[in-house]
Amino acid sequence: MNTIGQPLDRTDGVLKVTGGAKYAAEFPAAQLAHAVLVTSSIACGRIASIDATRAEAMPGVLLVMTSRNAPRLPNGGEPEVSPPAQRRLSLLQTDEVRYDNEPVALVVADTLERAVDAAGHLRIEYAPPSPTLDFAATKAHGHPPQSMIGGKPDTLRGNIERGLSAGSVRIDAVYTTPMEHHNPMEPHAIMASWDGPRLTLYDTSQGVGNARKAVAAFLGISPDDVHIVSPFVGGGFGCKGSVWSHVVLCAMAARQVGRTVRLALTRPQMFGPVGGRPRTEQHLVLAAREDGTLTGMRHDTYSNTSTFEDWTETSGVLTRMLYEVPNLATTHRLVPLNVGTPTFMRAPGETTGSFALESAMDELAAALKIDPLTLRLKNYAEIDPQERKPWSSKQLRECYRVGAERFGWSKRVHAPRSMRQGHTLIGMGMATATYPAHRSEAAAFARILPDGSAVVASGTQDLGTGTYTVMTQVAADALGFPPDRVSFALGDSSLPNAPVSGGSQSVASVGPAVMEAAGAARKQLIDIACADAGSPLHGMSTADVTVVDGWVVARHDAARRDPAAAVIARAGGRPIEGRATAKRGDEAQRYAFHSFGAVFVEVHVDAELGTIRVPRVVAVYDVGTLLNEKTGKSQLMGGIVWGIGAALEEASELDPRYGRFVNANLAEYHVPVNADVGTIDVSVLNVPDPRFNALGARGIGEIGITGVPAAIANAVYHATGVRVRDLPITLDKVL
Ligand code: MOS
Repeated sequence: MNTIGQPLDRTDGVLKVTGGAKYAAEFPAAQLAHAVLVTSSIACGRIASIDATRAEAMPGVLLVMTSRNAPRLPNGGEPEVSPPAQRRLSLLQTDEVRYDNEPVALVVADTLERAVDAAGHLRIEYAPPSPTLDFAATKAHGHPPQSMIGGKPDTLRGNIERGLSAGSVRIDAVYTTPMEHHNPMEPHAIMASWDGPRLTLYDTSQGVGNARKAVAAFLGISPDDVHIVSPFVGGGFGCKGSVWSHVVLCAMAARQVGRTVRLALTRPQMFGPVGGRPRTEQHLVLAAREDGTLTGMRHDTYSNTSTFEDWTETSGVLTRMLYEVPNLATTHRLVPLNVGTPTFMRAPGETTGSFALESAMDELAAALKIDPLTLRLKNYAEIDPQERKPWSSKQLRECYRVGAERFGWSKRVHAPRSMRQGHTLIGMGMATATYPAHRSEAAAFARILPDGSAVVASGTQDLGTGTYTVMTQVAADALGFPPDRVSFALGDSSLPNAPVSGGSQSVASVGPAVMEAAGAARKQLIDIACADAGSPLHGMSTADVTVVDGWVVARHDAARRDPAAAVIARAGGRPIEGRATAKRGDEAQRYAFHSFGAVFVEVHVDAELGTIRVPRVVAVYDVGTLLNEKTGKSQLMGGIVWGIGAALEEASELDPRYGRFVNANLAEYHVPVNADVGTIDVSVLNVPDPRFNALGARGIGEIGITGVPAAIANAVYHATGVRVRDLPITLDKVL
């Protein structure tokens, strides 16, 4: 029986709910020392003086590491920046301060309480600050990024001026989205331990292979001497895709004190030193004929970066591929501010970009008095309009159709503010979801053990998403074993290399490697059985033999069968191992790979108070084969919940004088709670994409959030007649 697609329970579920799963800060260590990170209290300037005398003299204090005494690193602690893993960090190599909450010291003591106490007695004086924090004022000096993940910073097709003037209706509007910070349940944490030249790091990481190389580069040691262990990750969302300062600082401190050192960031330390989503300001110009045919489109994005590293929110990238527009221009400009460098945050670019583009499409539909869904169908891209390549598989039309039907879109009355029930203004909005399908090289091994069970492994990660579970399913099917006889190992840099669990690529990349490695092990098992005089299958052609439920069995004679354990025992008792490295061929030259979805939202707005509720979201996705009905739909649902937060609640509020986030905690940084979320109806078309990989599966990690903020904004407009172009949509903006 195939287990792929089945709603298998999480294989790590029991471990997680019983406390058996060990997270980064939970590994036992003899003589453990505890570190506390001290961060700056100004946004820009220099450290004039640090008085550590008192802190150093306090009981139990082992080390106060500052720019005065920190070990000097190669290249001043700045090896080449190569995201996602390697970034520009704060490694106490200079006195410069570039943002508020920047690491400036590490205090290590024999207990956490003593480290916290000593950290509070560190006296740091700063030279007068003059931070750059004004996005609007700095925008004028915005610069193009030198390079950008996801394509060129600027693109032009057709004749943009002619295209914009060819339309009879034009939408010209600016949309903004705020800075946000990822706050997984488990903040960043690290334990560092040296054994001679060898460093072991217990980390919470989205990419153990990349982390190994990055840490080695920062410390100037061999990657062979770095071992990253990260079996469980309490949420990632992009912030754990890079090695940040605290990881390297903890390793430096552990070497100094000669003990294992543990460092867990506090919740407020999640706001700055470990990335976040930058502020965006997006200018959209859309032109169309009376019948809704788009003639031209411009999308100009400004987003902030830090003063010391360029990182680009790629908001304009989806505008290049979502609709058939002959004339189109996109640009990206960076606005350097004295804040921590932003980073990948769930669907970076697509989340913010789809808010702007899909809001603008709704504005166009309203101006043309055309149904918003009809407008999208009118401009449906049959091929990738930028690359002029066919899609490997695109079922967006079916997403629209199924979604509209499940939602009851036909009941929507076109005019805004026309579906009132007493004090409640009812609004219906929709938007398109999309995310590219990425795939990278990945390796795996599969071992059939003498007891007839199997261990399959790859150096990939499970961010809580279900990698353990779905890879167990892929391996079980490829081996011909029941899933409860297969265990999957991951989260260890000594395992075969796999890419960062970012860009929604783990299933698409690691799945094929696991499938091939398991297939190779199964083939050996069959070969051995058929060649073995003691086996009931002896002498049969291997083509007539298969493996079912852990038994080697004749395809046409179920009575001729041999358990895997018996085959191995007679062959000498050694495990059977298959290995594979899987990567893309040249298919990307022929096809464009994207996932799609349609999101429909109902909102209820209180006519007097302006409070906005989201009783209902219906979303339909085209993501190729869904490997696990339960974990897959949960992940898409999680994305939608975050989309509700991005639309209505989430924002990191920067104090414009001091560059400090004033709501750097989970009490004042609002995210959706249960009461904020109504019914979420997720369905997946489950049409395999065999041109993408043998599983036919594209990624699902990020698409769920895309489109949701726009669908909500569009529904709020439909309910109230008020168009809000600045996220989050708080009640003051609709009154
Ligand atoms: Mo995702 S933001 O690429 O971890």
